[in-house]
Amino acid sequence: MKEKYYEAIIDILDYIDEGIQIVDEKGRIVYYNKAARVHDGIEDEEAIGRHILEIYPSLTFETSTILKSMQTLTSIMNQEQEFVNYKGDKISTVNSSIPIRSGKKIIGAIEISKNITKVKELSEKIVDLQSELYKPKFKNKKSKSKNNGTNFTFVDIIGQNREMLKLKTLAFKASQTDSPVLIGGSTGTGKELFVHAIHNASNRKDYPFIAQNCAALPANLLESILFGSVKGSFTGANDRPGLFELADGGTLFLDEINSMPLELQAKLLRVLQDKKIRRVGGSKTIDVDVRIVAAYNSNLKEVLDKKQLRRDLFYRLNVISMIVPDLKDRKDDLPILLDYFIEKYNKKNKKFIKEVSDTVMNIFMKYDWPGNVRELEHVIEGISSIYDIDIIREEHLPYHFIEDNPITNGSSKIEPLNKALERKEKELIFTALNKTDGNVTRAAELLEIPRQTLQYRIKKFDIQP
Ligand SMILES: Nc1ncnc2c1ncn2[C@@H]1O[C@H](COP(=O)(O)OP(=O)(O)OP(=O)(O)O)[C@@H](O)[C@H]1O
Ligand SMILES: [Mg+2]
Repeated sequence: MKEKYYEAIIDILDYIDEGIQIVDEKGRIVYYNKAARVHDGIEDEEAIGRHILEIYPSLTFETSTILKSMQTLTSIMNQEQEFVNYKGDKISTVNSSIPIRSGKKIIGAIEISKNITKVKELSEKIVDLQSELYKPKFKNKKSKSKNNGTNFTFVDIIGQNREMLKLKTLAFKASQTDSPVLIGGSTGTGKELFVHAIHNASNRKDYPFIAQNCAALPANLLESILFGSVKGSFTGANDRPGLFELADGGTLFLDEINSMPLELQAKLLRVLQDKKIRRVGGSKTIDVDVRIVAAYNSNLKEVLDKKQLRRDLFYRLNVISMIVPDLKDRKDDLPILLDYFIEKYNKKNKKFIKEVSDTVMNIFMKYDWPGNVRELEHVIEGISSIYDIDIIREEHLPYHFIEDNPITNGSSKIEPLNKALERKEKELIFTALNKTDGNVTRAAELLEIPRQTLQYRIKKFDIQP
């Protein structure tokens, strides 16, 4: 009965982005889906029945994850592998391999692999560009350049709430030292603003500020991006400085540090203690003078309890410890933040919004702001782009404010249908334009309407893409 469906399952495997490969107990290829054929550069059936090392001469019994999982009888999860395919292209993948058993006997293995070649190339390109960017400016330690990779100083952090003021004082004090800083807080609370401000108020401000999100890259790649690599240390490796070397004299911001793999956290701890790095595959140690600021965007207790952050590294980083409060816990800052964003987008969009109505202020005060200040900013940005008004009223707010809000729900007033439709229409057009960076053709595709229709409606509603 079940067999009937196997063919359909096999067919659908050709439509997923991950490569899937199955080998028999001798290591001969039994199955390949389309994604695997594409990144391996193999035509339809030519690899079936052949040994995996025959098809991948750049791999060995030791480096092939699928063979290793069979030899060791264990599953290998998320391991990086580099190889050169048939056509000579260097391919980087992240693989998970699982031995296949029939009773007690191993009859083969299955591997799922994600092609990260592009991600890797782009990450390395960014490092190269950063090294170009900083080379001429920061070679001379006396050079004064504002363009140090940051956008914010302490003046740009709006907030008079007691906790925020205390935090600013603490951050300023931190900026005058070289100690590591660990910043926590939910998404959109302004952690990155604080990190920029600390750098800009420090005596490192004329040296580079470099940020790396630790959740964005797989382990090995993150390691070589941070510490650099030496030619030949792994397939495709080049002599390349890492971010530690590039940030020398300045600040390295490690965002989402709790996503950094634990072994790499151990290496980072050693670097923090020794103030020396060693490039991946290299033997020479290199002195680095880098201030580390690290951030995590979840609850500290959870981060430690769930062992996302090693305790020893936590103690080393947490010399200066800051937690930026959620917006819902500092609603006294809402009015000044509102004024600030209204002004910011008035200037940007040439609008003349003065304030929000009392009802809107009420709605905002009762709202939880899960996206924190970033969410507030986007709400104002959206309204400012769409409407030519002087007062923001509830009908200008995105839907969820009105639908979920007891203040508007409680009243028996109902919004006229054509007004509501128009508001929804503007909101969708605005979102589509935002998603496509203002590209009208692509926005029209997203909305599934002709380009001309969209153009007409943008004009009609006076939307600023
Ligand atoms: N106190 C503030 N004053 C002015 N603007 C702010 C403030 N806090 C946040 N913002 C605005 O919100 C945006 C998001 O803030 P930021 O990037 O610092 O968030 P984050 O805490 O790093 O969030 P995530 O964890 O999602 O990275 C900023 O680009 C800035 O425009
Ligand atoms: Mg951030």
